[in-house]
Amino acid sequence: MSRRDTSEHSPPSSTAAVHTPGARPGPGPIHQQALFTFPNLKELIAVFRREKPGHFYTRHGNPGFDRVESLLAEMEEAEAALVFSSGMAAIATVMLSLAVGGGRTKKKGGADIVALADLYGGTAAFLNDVAPACGLRVRTAPVDDLAALERAVRAGARLVYFETPTNPLNRIVDLAAVAHICRSAGALTVVDNTFATPLNQRPLRRGIDVVVHSATKYLGGHADLLAGCAAGPARLMRRVAAWRTMLGGTPNGFEAWLLERSLKTFPMRMRAHNANAFSVAWFLSVHPRVRRVYYPGLEADPGHQVARRQMAGFGGIVSFDLAGGFRETERFVNSLKLFHLAASLGGAESLVSLPAFTSHLWIPKAQREAMGIGENTVRLAVGLENDEDLVRDLDQALAAAFPAPAARRGRLALARPRTTPTGRRP
Ligand SMILES: Cc1ncc(COP(=O)(O)O)c(C=O)c1O
Repeated sequence: MSRRDTSEHSPPSSTAAVHTPGARPGPGPIHQQALFTFPNLKELIAVFRREKPGHFYTRHGNPGFDRVESLLAEMEEAEAALVFSSGMAAIATVMLSLAVGGGRTKKKGGADIVALADLYGGTAAFLNDVAPACGLRVRTAPVDDLAALERAVRAGARLVYFETPTNPLNRIVDLAAVAHICRSAGALTVVDNTFATPLNQRPLRRGIDVVVHSATKYLGGHADLLAGCAAGPARLMRRVAAWRTMLGGTPNGFEAWLLERSLKTFPMRMRAHNANAFSVAWFLSVHPRVRRVYYPGLEADPGHQVARRQMAGFGGIVSFDLAGGFRETERFVNSLKLFHLAASLGGAESLVSLPAFTSHLWIPKAQREAMGIGENTVRLAVGLENDEDLVRDLDQALAAAFPAPAARRGRLALARPRTTPTGRRP
């Protein structure tokens, strides 16, 4: 990598995450309260009129939100950030607030939202059902066809929404290329950075307008909170904040405090997820019972070159297609001992899920199959255990999934090359 690339990828500092400005050891106080009282009417009026900083009701804001929002803004290198009650609250509020009657021209035959088609199932369902019911015109473009995106945007679009890496198949979209296409056509760009996280990828540096997260995942990191986040320029975040207040997608004081606590260990945790996922992806990529691995850190992955340019590490999710049908896939997941069967990601414990039956169950089968998600597609959320233990567990479950004797090339992978802390190949 060149010098320039290295500085572009300078990750959020662990020191800064631990030493938050003005903080005592540990997270700040928990503001588990719906309301704030005032010593006199003059003070109340000044705060309500926003002539003086302060809080009056948690749906509008809370001192605990302020602390975690300034940390999130710093991590995403944004002017402002907002915390939400869930990732879906952040996504829905951002899309509605920026696409409904926003300041962009509405060309005839155009769309309010153009989405790149590979998306988390909840987001896909929002765009299929909820956004059109709210009067928004939604169009999709294939995730790997920037020319089609450009045509759709030039036909008129207010907002372009996408993920990179995508859930669940880790497809990579070129952030700078999308930003360029959309800027020149006057469309806003919103990217879901949940899979990459700000340790591995800073989309605003590449010209993207707004980043959203399911903070339930790596930012929260302990599978004990539900939260979302949006970050971007102050002028857009003011609009999103007004809609958050009206739609009510604010978290509570305790949840915001849990998230603040989690951010202190986030850079360290994420480096471990990157490294473990790389080991797992490498092992699977040489196993004869695995048809295809989806991990952008592997050189053979179609997104590898773009990922190397825009990511500092490749994340903790490894998806793959088993070389078998549903029965083998069922035997495989039921045989795993360390990977819990659950539909989330980003915590300390490794998880396994089948997207066709979990995150993508509620989107039409044809749409799901067009995304490349089959009944043999497995998503691993690689946790913080020892990578050797995870690889051993996968190896025994793959053997159990195919009881007939078979070549066990996968065992060779236990002698795989060491990885760097970011999960890059040395
Ligand atoms: C990529 C992605 N975005 C958004 C969401 C929604 O987040 P939440 O469950 O916090 O609402 C998820 C949930 O799995 C996700 O994986």
